[in-house]
Amino acid sequence: PDLFAPERPNSKGFDLAHTPTLETIEAARTPFKLQQWSAAPLLAADARPKTAEPVINPALPQDAPGTVAPASAADVELALTSAKPWDAVPEERKKILNRAADLYEANYGELFALVAREAGKSLKDAVAELREAVDFLRYYAANIPAGDPAGTFTCISPWNFPLAIFTGQISAALATGNAVLAKPAGQTPLIAHRAVQLMHEAGVPRATLQMLPGGPEVGAALTSDARVHGVAFTGSTNTALKIRAAMAENMAPGSPLIAETGGLNAMIVDSTALPEQAVQAIVESAFQSAGQRCSALRCLYLQADIAEDVLTMLQGAMDALCLGDPWRIETDCGPVIDDEACQVIADHIAKARAEGRVLKELPAPPEGIFIPPTLIEVSGIAALEREIFGPVLHVARFKSSELDQVIAAINATGYGLTFGLHTRIDDRVQHITEAVHAGNIYVNRNQIGAIVGSQPFGGEGLSGTGPKAGGPNYMARFLAPDRQTSEE
Ligand code: NAD
Ligand code: ALA
Repeated sequence: PDLFAPERPNSKGFDLAHTPTLETIEAARTPFKLQQWSAAPLLAADARPKTAEPVINPALPQDAPGTVAPASAADVELALTSAKPWDAVPEERKKILNRAADLYEANYGELFALVAREAGKSLKDAVAELREAVDFLRYYAANIPAGDPAGTFTCISPWNFPLAIFTGQISAALATGNAVLAKPAGQTPLIAHRAVQLMHEAGVPRATLQMLPGGPEVGAALTSDARVHGVAFTGSTNTALKIRAAMAENMAPGSPLIAETGGLNAMIVDSTALPEQAVQAIVESAFQSAGQRCSALRCLYLQADIAEDVLTMLQGAMDALCLGDPWRIETDCGPVIDDEACQVIADHIAKARAEGRVLKELPAPPEGIFIPPTLIEVSGIAALEREIFGPVLHVARFKSSELDQVIAAINATGYGLTFGLHTRIDDRVQHITEAVHAGNIYVNRNQIGAIVGSQPFGGEGLSGTGPKAGGPNYMARFLAPDRQTSEE
C-alpha cells in the first residue's frame, strides 16, 4: 500500500503554543472536569446491572472520575457465544472506521478530560493520545488487505495508552472483518467504554465489537478459549508469555498472537553530539508521560569526556520540569498509574539511594501518586534487573574504546524495542544502527512518539512478536491463515 496516500492524512492535532487553541481546548474539556462516567460490559445484548467499583484519579485522591462494573464469567460466556464477525464489505468497514475517527475528534474535550482524570496524562500526552488513536483508525481503514477474517479476536491493552493502543488493536481487527472482544486495562475502563460507545455510534455492530472491563482474570478467560481465533496483546513481557502458554493449551494451533511488550531501552551519546539537542531528547525520552511508555529511555550511555557537561545540563533541565496535576496546562510530568506501580519504582530508587547512586531527585507534589523524575548512576544496562516503568533514568559512562562492549551489553538484555543515538559521525551512525537490535531506532532526536504510517512501531526479542503496529504488514496477521492446506 501507498503509505502516503492522500486519503490517509495524519491527524493534525492541536498547537499548544497557540493561545486561542488552548482557550478552545479549555472550553471544550471544562464541562467534563467534574463529570462522572460509568463503565460496564458492552455486549451484543444488554447485560444485567451489577455492582460497580470506583475508578481512581492517580493525581488527585479526592477525585473519582467514575465507576466500573467488571465483566463476570457469565458476561465472558455471553460475549464468546454471541461474537459475530463483521459482514460488511471492506468499503463499508472503511467508511464506518473513518466515521469513528471523526467522532473521536469531535469529542476531543471529553476524551482529553478522561485521559487526564483516569490515566494521569498531561495535555500534551492527551493530544498525542487522541492523534494516534485517530491515525490508527484512518490508517487501517485505508489499507484493508484482501482475505477472510480469522474469526474472533481478543484484544488486550495496557493502561499507558488507554485510547491509542486500545483503539489501534481493535481497529486493525475490525478493518479485517473480525469480531472483537476488547479487554482494556483494569486501571482505564472509562476511556475504553467511551471509545467503544463512539465506535458503535459510528456503525460498528454491537455483536462485532464487545468490551469486557476487568483485570487479568477476564483477560485470561478471553485468551484460553477455542472460540477465539487470535489475540492482539500489548503489555508486559511476562503477561505475553502467560498468554502464549494459555493459547497453546486451549486454542487451535496456528492461532496468531500479536504481542507488543516491554523494553530496556538505551541511548548512546558520544562526544561529537550536540549537547543541547541530546539533553532535550533525553528529558523527553525519559520523563515525558512520567516515563510510562514502553519506548521510554531507561539507560543513557554518555561518552566519558562529555559526561559531566551533559549531566550538568540535564540536571538543570530536570529542575525546569513541572510536576503535578495533569489537568494543568503547564504540567510536564503527571502521576504514575497506581499505588502498586509506585511502590515498585520507589523500592528501586530506595535501593539506589542506599547505595549512594542517586544523582538527582526532584521534590514530589504534596498529594497524588507521584514519582518525581530521578537520575541514577549505574555501571551499565546489565545493572537493570527489569524494566522500571516510571520516570527513572539510569546513566552509565563509556570510553570510546568500549563502544562495541556497550552495544553488546544492550543486545544482551534480550529486549529490542527502541534505541537512541546522538552523534555527528556518519560512519558511526551506520555501524551502531546496524549492530543494535531494536525495532525502532532514532538518531539525533528523542526516541518516543512513533507516528502511525510513517514510523511503524514494534520490537524484537523479549519486546514483541511483530509485525509492527501502524505499518503495512500488521493487518495481514488478523486474517485467516491460508486455509488450503488444512482443507486438503
Ligand atoms: P500488564 O501485562 O500487567 O497488563 C496488560 C494487560 O494484560 C491488561 O489489560 C491486563 O489486565 C491484562 N492481563 C494481565 N494478566 C493477564 C493474563 N494472565 N491473561 C490475559 N490478560 C492479562 O501490563 P501493564 O502494566 O498494563 O502495561 C505496562 C507494560 O506494557 C509495560 O511492560 C510496557 O512496556 C508495555 N507496553 C508495551 C507497548 C509496546 O507497544 N511494545 C506499549 C505500551 C505498553
Ligand atoms: N508508540 C509509542 C511510542 O512510540 C509507544 O512512544
